[in-house]
This record gives sequence, C-alpha cells and structure tokens, in this order.
Amino acid sequence: MQDKIISILKKENLNREDLIILLSANAVDTELIYKKAAEIKSKHIGNCTYFRGLIELSNVCTKNCYYCGIRRGNKKVKRYTVSDDEVLQVVRYALDRNWGSIVIQSGERQDAKFINRIEDLLRKIQALSSEKIGVTLSLGEQEIDTYDRWLEAGATRYLVRIESSNEDLYYQIHPKDKLHKFELRKQALIDLRNAGYITGTGVMIGLPYQTMGDLADDLLFMKEYDIDMCGMGPYIEHEDTPLYRYNDVLLSVSERYNLTLKMIAILRILMKDVNIASATALQAINPDGREEGIRCGANVIMPNITPIKYHDAYNLYKGKPQIIAETDEYIKKLEEQINEAGDLVGYGELGDPLHFKNRTKP
Ligand code: 5AD
Ligand code: SF4
Repeated sequence: MQDKIISILKKENLNREDLIILLSANAVDTELIYKKAAEIKSKHIGNCTYFRGLIELSNVCTKNCYYCGIRRGNKKVKRYTVSDDEVLQVVRYALDRNWGSIVIQSGERQDAKFINRIEDLLRKIQALSSEKIGVTLSLGEQEIDTYDRWLEAGATRYLVRIESSNEDLYYQIHPKDKLHKFELRKQALIDLRNAGYITGTGVMIGLPYQTMGDLADDLLFMKEYDIDMCGMGPYIEHEDTPLYRYNDVLLSVSERYNLTLKMIAILRILMKDVNIASATALQAINPDGREEGIRCGANVIMPNITPIKYHDAYNLYKGKPQIIAETDEYIKKLEEQINEAGDLVGYGELGDPLHFKNRTKP
C-alpha cells in the first residue's frame, strides 16, 4: 500500500480514486502525506502563518441546521449581539498586535436592519484602521446586492461553507425547506466570486454516514469551484441538536480529528496556493490541534477575540474552547508552537491567498 501512496503523491493530477486511497491511508503512510503537503506549502506559499482575529458577532440565527448548537430551534440558547463599540475595541486589539486581518462571523440573518448594521460597522472598522485591516465575512447566504454593499464598505473576503458537497448528505443535516437549499448554497459561492470577493468554503468531517467517497468529492468540489480559501473541521456532536441521535454511528473523536488533518494535507496537495485555516474545532478535540493543522499544510489560525462574556453563548458544538482567553501569554505560546511547526507569523500583512492573485478574475 505504501508504494501506491508514494506513486499517487508523485502524480500531477489526482482523481477521485487516488483521493480515497490517500484518505484511507494508515498512520505510517499518513506521515508521507503530511510531508508532501509541508513541502508543497513551503515551495508555493512559504512558511508563513497568518493570525485572523475571529469575532463571533451574534448567535441570533434564522436557520435551523440539524448539527448546530445555535440553531433557531434551540430554545436553551441565550441570544446575544456584540455592540459596535465592543467590536471596535477588539479590532483595536488585533491592530495593536499587528495582525493583518479579522473575521466577522455570525448566525444567518437577511433582514435590512442586519444588512445596514454590517455595512455601517465595516465602514467604522475601516476608518479605525485607516483601511489597513483585511476583513473576512462569514455571515451566510445573502442577495448579490448585499454582497456588493459589504464589499464596497470594506470587506474583501467571504466564507460560506458548503458543509457537504453531497446533496443527499446535505439534506440529511439540513431541513429540506426554502431556507436551506443546497442549490442556493452553491450559488452563493458563484455570486461571491463574481462580486469580486476572495471566496472561501469548507466542510465538516466525520458527519454521520459520510463516506471517504463523499470527502473525496468535497475536495474535488473545492477544486471545481476554484476556491481561494478553505476552513474545514471535524463534526462535533451537540446534544441539543437533532443530529445528536446519530451519535452512535460516528467515527471516534480521534478518527475525526485525524481525518481532518488528512483533509487539510490533501487539499494543500490538490490546491497549492490557497489559504487553509486550521479550524477551532480541531482545538476542541486537542488543545494543540490548530498547531498540528499548520504542520499538515494549513496557513491560517483564527484566535477568538470575541469579548469573553459572550463566549459561552456561541456554542456551536460540544467542548468548543470557550473560556480560553486568547491572552497575550496564550498568543505567545501559540506563536512558539507555530515556530516549532516550522512557520513564522505574518505580522502586518493582509495575507491574501496567492491563489486569488494568480487566478484569472473573477
Ligand atoms: N460541529 C462542527 N462544526 C460545526 N459548525 C456548526 N455546528 C458544528 C458542529 N456541531 C460549523 C459549520 C458552520 C460553522 C460556523 O461552524 O461548518 O459553517
Ligand atoms: Fe445558523 Fe450557521 Fe448554525 Fe446553521 S450553522 S444554524 S446557519 S449559525
């Protein structure tokens, strides 16, 4: 089997079968995959990791995804929204630390009040940073006009996770109604790219009944959509969600963790110059999980800079690292681990994916 893995890793173009073989590699052979991914990262984008300050703006959500702890139907959640002043305070924190960018993430809302508020907030952030800070949005599916307005107001990147590229699996983890349409999710990625955003997507790994073939298709989906950024993490069950009932068919937590690292490494091999985030959900399983992601080909870490008083309420899944204040001391340790993984931190740089610069637009 090792010979087979070695020969696949020498190929220029990987097909679905190759990807399934890589995803199924044993622990020893997996090291070969990590090594290849590290080489490609070093050669194509350099040994640099970027910090993005993550702001979990609000857990108010109109959607009802079956896996997510802050879904509309979960009445146990205390809903919050971070104020503009609080956002600006943590943006200042990121600027003071010379981080090149922030990510604003929130439950999905499409109402005019929300759209206007984000537009205003983006302008305030750009004014505060003298237009120097990169802003990534992760605010779900919106109308084209909204994407345009937010781009105009200062956002440059947008993440919409497809969650799973297999339509059947998508509908096993989402209600089949007009709010959760697979086609619209895919269309969002096309609209964002056409609008001029640096566009990102991602999937969850280890979903109930997800196969290696599904994960191979997820990787091919990212290639087909020619995405610029990816954030993918292990699925982690949450007991107050409908998907929790499939708990006993899941891979073990450590299998999901290892499979996520493999997905990161294989994506790096497949799409050499994209940005890949080492997801927070990795850290929920292993305190050093995000740093391991860096070793396997990821180049972005998103320290959570949401004011601590809100951490408890953005509970997407079980064991989400909550009260870990990403203090100066903690960040220093993170940087040391990034250095140990062979990378430097890209201070003062936007860190836009080379893929975006290299591709023919849109
Ligand atoms: N496990 C892992 N990731 C989850 N997300 C939501 N719920 C879970 C969960 N139970 C991820 C989704 C979503 C992002 C905001 O968080 O991929 O896009
Ligand atoms: Fe809302 Fe996103 Fe959670 Fe779905 S995954 S319920 S859209 S916050």
